[in-house]
Amino acid sequence: MNRHQWWRDAVIYQVYVRSFLDSTGDGIGDLAGVRAGLPYLRKLGVDGIWLSPFYPSPQHDHGYDVADYRDVDPVFGDLAEFDLLVSAARRLGIKVLLDIVPNHCSSEHPWFREALAAAPGSPERARFHFADGRGPDGAEPPNNWHAMFGGPAWSRVTEPDGRPGQWYLHMFTPEQPDWNWREPEVAADFDRTLRFWLDRGVDGFRIDVAAGLFKHPELPDSPDPEADARTRDSVNPLAWNQPEVHDVWRHWRAVCEEYTARDGRERLLVGEVSVPTAREHARYVRADELHQAFFFDLLGAPWDADAFRKVISEAMEDIAGTGSTVTWVLNNHDQVRTVTRYGEPAPGGSGLGAARARAAALLMLALPGAAYIYQGEELGLPEVVDLPDEVLTDPIFRRTGSRARIRDGCRVPLPWSGQASPFGFTTGALAKPWLPQPEYFAEYATHRALADTRSSWHLYRDGLHLRAALDQLGDGTLHWLDTQPGVLAFARGDGLVCAVNFTAAPVPAPVAGTPLLASGPCPTGVLPGSTAAWWIDAP
Ligand code: NOJ
Repeated sequence: MNRHQWWRDAVIYQVYVRSFLDSTGDGIGDLAGVRAGLPYLRKLGVDGIWLSPFYPSPQHDHGYDVADYRDVDPVFGDLAEFDLLVSAARRLGIKVLLDIVPNHCSSEHPWFREALAAAPGSPERARFHFADGRGPDGAEPPNNWHAMFGGPAWSRVTEPDGRPGQWYLHMFTPEQPDWNWREPEVAADFDRTLRFWLDRGVDGFRIDVAAGLFKHPELPDSPDPEADARTRDSVNPLAWNQPEVHDVWRHWRAVCEEYTARDGRERLLVGEVSVPTAREHARYVRADELHQAFFFDLLGAPWDADAFRKVISEAMEDIAGTGSTVTWVLNNHDQVRTVTRYGEPAPGGSGLGAARARAAALLMLALPGAAYIYQGEELGLPEVVDLPDEVLTDPIFRRTGSRARIRDGCRVPLPWSGQASPFGFTTGALAKPWLPQPEYFAEYATHRALADTRSSWHLYRDGLHLRAALDQLGDGTLHWLDTQPGVLAFARGDGLVCAVNFTAAPVPAPVAGTPLLASGPCPTGVLPGSTAAWWIDAP
């Protein structure tokens, strides 16, 4: 490595803007709120933030339906406020990543409107996937693909003359038409977008659906359409992970390198890559492609030592083994929070889930590579599992009628202070957060967490500060240590040991002496159940 690649072991904090901090009193978080929260994040010790989409959008999928890629939605602020945020972050040494959504846009994007107004076969329609329907009057969709959020992946349009007409492809909701990346104008417009934000000083991009973009050129029927959409992370092999997508990432990487060559600041591309195997995943982070891609297998692993060891070993071998870095993640705005996922799905979470989530965090922060933390994770927030149907906003609920896969519960606005909602999230006496906050959020408010050295916040803060201070942590390799069943232990560099007890019963600690950091009370010589700890194993 001839220059320091800061991103190889960076810890990035995901800011879900609408739920972080509201500065205007409308109950929706905004960019000025993010700016106000920067000192808090600086204290926590993160290297950067990733901002969820704040672009003009009808918000059918909370901004993942972009109507204008080069502006700020008035709900979140404006470009002037964005510039203030970037410069404030720069002053505090916090990098800023934006969320870019290249697989699809909003049905309100001007190019999609133009496509609807234009004729079949027109250049305007070529920017999307328009096709004639099947059956005698074209009333059947062009193929059998399912959308990821329920229902068919195609919707039929009414042509300008009022007749039922062609169909267009949308792998998520009908309000999110998929771009046709075989059309050069699409690629050129994304170049403009990248440069627009790079010129405004951002440090990189989180790329939505980065294994998407290209579809099989013939758009053939899927042999198993049910399986393609069984989970939110399923991979329809005809719609995702097409070989052509790698050329796009090579090109985007070259754009980033061009900016780095100018000012020496390395830009970062991190992809949301859902593909079947770690080996396939590694192809996205080859030296001239994305810098990072979220490795979701850790997030998907059940609370089980063997399951964790398997996914970690695969990632180390197949991803880190190629010279890249693994990007670990346990939580994000699409997933049930760890406290609830590892415990019982009871309102307010459970002691067991909370203990396991803390242990998992310490494990993640000890692994070689980069890590992403989702806002509220540092507070130990549980998933809000009892939101009433009428407040749910996730399009998955609307489209499937089922609460099974909905994501509102991890998106409830953060509690900052006080004993009652809005817990300092929003100003104004009558202000109501866009999703209701449960009473028990009082226990998790940042003010309380900062004042209590036993809080999850302090665990994350201490973990991040140790990562920054100790050469053994961050980038590098790991070496598994022998342990009894249900316990994982590994060494990092020169004498740092991390162990996690996945069982409920205490086990002998792998290292004598007091741990450097532990996820719960940890008497010398013992690693209690559902606990992780770090030690320096001095020779
Ligand atoms: C992945 C994003 O994380 C999710 O929130 C969004 O709904 C889909 N991509 C579609 O853009």
